[in-house]
Amino acid sequence: MSDTVFIDIKKVNRIYRDTNGNPVNALKDIDLEIAKGEFVSIVGPSGCGKTTLLRLIAGLDRPQAGFLAIDGQIIAGPSHEQGYVFQQSTLFPWATVHENIAMGLKARGVYKGQESRVQDSIDMIGLTGFEKSYPHEISGGMAQRVAIIRALINEPKVLLLDEPLGALDAFKRIELQALLLDVWNKTNTTMVMVTHDVDEAIALSTRIVIMTPRPGQITDIFDVNLGETRDRNMDDFIVLRKKILEALHLVISQPQVEYNL
Ligand SMILES: Nc1ncnc2c1ncn2[C@@H]1O[C@H](COP(=O)(O)OP(=O)(O)OP(=O)(O)O)[C@@H](O)[C@H]1O
Ligand SMILES: [Mg+2]
Repeated sequence: MSDTVFIDIKKVNRIYRDTNGNPVNALKDIDLEIAKGEFVSIVGPSGCGKTTLLRLIAGLDRPQAGFLAIDGQIIAGPSHEQGYVFQQSTLFPWATVHENIAMGLKARGVYKGQESRVQDSIDMIGLTGFEKSYPHEISGGMAQRVAIIRALINEPKVLLLDEPLGALDAFKRIELQALLLDVWNKTNTTMVMVTHDVDEAIALSTRIVIMTPRPGQITDIFDVNLGETRDRNMDDFIVLRKKILEALHLVISQPQVEYNL
């Protein structure tokens, strides 16, 4: 493995069985190398294996063939080093915002002496004053902020995000995209995010991985060389969006209309 490879995914295959016992080739020969500090987005249609791939990186599942490693270590199981944010809020409903964030530190026995980090994190995500609120007392966007910071406070080697903003409206989405970018810039955590939103992928990522289903495979990888300020109306942004939509076969060709005026 070369020095620059942080997450190493080689020839990974994951076959499920459907209810009739027939094989479902969820991932076939997946090769992907991710450098430390990258922000990689995975885009593809429903069922192409995005969650399957993320779960394998998280150590929540094992491949039938191939291997996955982080920082030179084969991924043997879930750990705080692979933070995971789900699409729907998975906060504990019986615990406050503060308690939800502190839980990981407490579970690892490292909370004592780090109490101030929890408050610093709450301040960083703009939830000062909501420490004692319960999940049902905050909005969906606020809950996702808590979920993101709850994973990050454990200083994971990689933060895995499965459509973390998918349930939010367009306004909240853009707000949370800015938060993710800010957190990424401040912590330099390696991020792997699944999203259906091509603009979101371009706005946040260093690279965009395109997957196709049956069997789930990587068909394209795009470098995003747009610098820090990513205006969605920039020519380079628009060109890249078009290329990605083409790779996803999502470009609708205009019918040739004949006018008889
Ligand atoms: N536990 C399972 N048992 C059987 N088949 C499964 C299981 N989990 C996923 N699959 C199948 O594997 C394929 C990939 O599923 P996966 O959830 O990874 O897709 P996805 O790209 O995340 O889709 P979506 O965008 O809808 O979330 C799908 O065909 C799915 O039906
Ligand atoms: Mg999924």
